[in-house]
Amino acid sequence: MKQDMIVILDLGSEENPRLAREIRALGVYSEIHPHDITAAELDALPGVKGIILNGGPNRVVDGVEIDVAKEVYNYNVPVLLADHKGDKPWPADEGERKTALSNFVFDLCGAQPNWNMENFIADQIELIQRQVGDRKVLLALSGGVDSSVVAALLIKAIGKQLTCVHVNHGLLRKGEPEQVVSVFRDEMDANLIYVDAVDRFLDKLADVTDPEQKRKIIGAEFIRVFEEEARKLSGIEFLAQGTIYPDIIESGTKTVKAVKSHHNVGGLPEDMDFALVEPLKMLFKDEVRACGVALGLPESMVYRQPFPGPGLGVRCLGAITRDRLEALREADAILREEFDKAGLAGKVWQYFTVVPDFKSVGVRDNARSFEWPCILRAVNTVDAMTATIELIDWPVLQRITDRITHEVPGINRVLYDLTPKPVGTIEWE
Ligand code: XMP
Repeated sequence: MKQDMIVILDLGSEENPRLAREIRALGVYSEIHPHDITAAELDALPGVKGIILNGGPNRVVDGVEIDVAKEVYNYNVPVLLADHKGDKPWPADEGERKTALSNFVFDLCGAQPNWNMENFIADQIELIQRQVGDRKVLLALSGGVDSSVVAALLIKAIGKQLTCVHVNHGLLRKGEPEQVVSVFRDEMDANLIYVDAVDRFLDKLADVTDPEQKRKIIGAEFIRVFEEEARKLSGIEFLAQGTIYPDIIESGTKTVKAVKSHHNVGGLPEDMDFALVEPLKMLFKDEVRACGVALGLPESMVYRQPFPGPGLGVRCLGAITRDRLEALREADAILREEFDKAGLAGKVWQYFTVVPDFKSVGVRDNARSFEWPCILRAVNTVDAMTATIELIDWPVLQRITDRITHEVPGINRVLYDLTPKPVGTIEWE
């Protein structure tokens, strides 16, 4: 293994992710594990040079103070007990904190600052090969950042032992399904099953107006299509997933309650007996992107803005029709193109179009038109819990309006959504 590691054991501190990031910032890889880890499990982790027991306010679980096993206290690397019983916090001062950490990590543990993407990838490849051997792995490849990076990593590690399934549900952005095929099948020579499920999804969604119902149908149908494809294949023993560290945090740890259950964690088809391969589960989002770049994925794939699972389905308001969905997709492509040109693409957190299910009167070619409006939305946020509105320059808005109303059939007005979150949510449905 190429990397040294400091293991953080979670004794109920919500600060563990920050601590892991601080250690990684020193150039040393760090992972967080549950307090009830055994010495044998520690033996199986590569490159462990030191252990930090980090306690905090959640140390008492169901009335009982949790602790690590004696064998872990006596483990054969330096063990640092931090914030014991929750009454001695880490130094609040950034500089003091950094000194305390680097004393432990470098002087006491003798760790080398060898955490970088190249080494991470090399280690993960070795770990994946060790886990999978000559067996087969299946991956649902949406084309989003996380699943794309997992795919690229697994292709490097096990090549054709990986089968990727890309389900096109008809609710992706313009060019996305094509990009998945060209990057993974054509360039990376992956085993890729492309499933055109557009009619199937749109038929199921026809006349469905309730937003929650739409989401449920899309989610359930997705699992059904994926399962059907999985059942056609034989001898698959592993399911790869693009789970990343924030998914695990949000889904709750043994000491911190769940914020929401994430679809990557749990929610698997119950009667399918797969072991999981989750090579990114210890990475934060920016690290996942860096990993994708190091693996040679295009920047347009790695630096894409967040995109909801139900896709354009929640932006084509009310009952989805094919013509309005197509108008939405074209308008979204224009917005993205103009944001790129205006240098806004890397600056604004999320930007998209919405097409509601009503029409208004306009004039086109000296005749009355009766067409849909298109709503533009551009927001900035840190955690998507609250969001502010990006102030877009008028000329940019005017150019987008001009292009959408002239290039997209069926749209005769463009509106700009000025609502922050709260009161609005980021998406409209
Ligand atoms: P809201 O609309 O709740 O959105 O303010 C917050 C962020 O979450 C994204 N979003 C989703 N992401 N599946 C996802 O993976 C979903 O069902 C979903 N709904 C909303 C939304 O795009 C925004 O970034």
